[in-house]
Amino acid sequence: MALQVYILEQSFNRILIQKQAFAQTFYDRLFEQFPQVKPLFRNTDLKLQQNKLLGALALVVSNLRHPEKLAEPLKELGKRHASYQVPPEHYALVGTILVVRSISARPR
Ligand code: HEM
Repeated sequence: MALQVYILEQSFNRILIQKQAFAQTFYDRLFEQFPQVKPLFRNTDLKLQQNKLLGALALVVSNLRHPEKLAEPLKELGKRHASYQVPPEHYALVGTILVVRSISARPR
C-alpha cells in the first residue's frame, strides 16, 4: 500500500494540538499492554523521553515528502536503539500503540 502522506500529515497535526497528552498516553499504553518493554526504560526520565519521541516523529512527518533527508538520521537512530539493546520484535509493539491505538483514540 502506498504511503498516505496527506493522511499522516493531517493526523499528526491533530496530535500536535495535544502533544503532551498524546506522548503520555503512548507510554502508558505501551507499558500497560506490553510490560516486557518496561525494563528497557528503567533509567529513563519519561518526561524527557516523551519530548524526544515527539521530536523524532515530527522529523519523520515533516520530511515525508523528502525521504532522502530521513535516511541518515533514521539510520543513526536505529544504531542508537541497537545500543539500547532494543530487540527487533519490539518495533511491532511500538507500531501497534503508535498507529492503531492512537487512531482509535481519536476524539469523536
Ligand atoms: C517509531 C520508532 C521509534 C522512535 C521514533 C523512537 C525514538 C526515540 C528517541 C528520539 C530516543 C531518544 C534518544 C535517541 O535519539 O537515541 C529514543 C530512546 C529510546 N528508545 Fe526509542 N524510538 C522508537 C522505537 C523504540 C522501541 C521499539 C523501543 C523498545 C521498546 C525503544 C526504546 C528506547 C529506549 C530504551 C531509549 C533510551 C531511553 C533513555 O535515554 O533512557 N524505542 N527513542
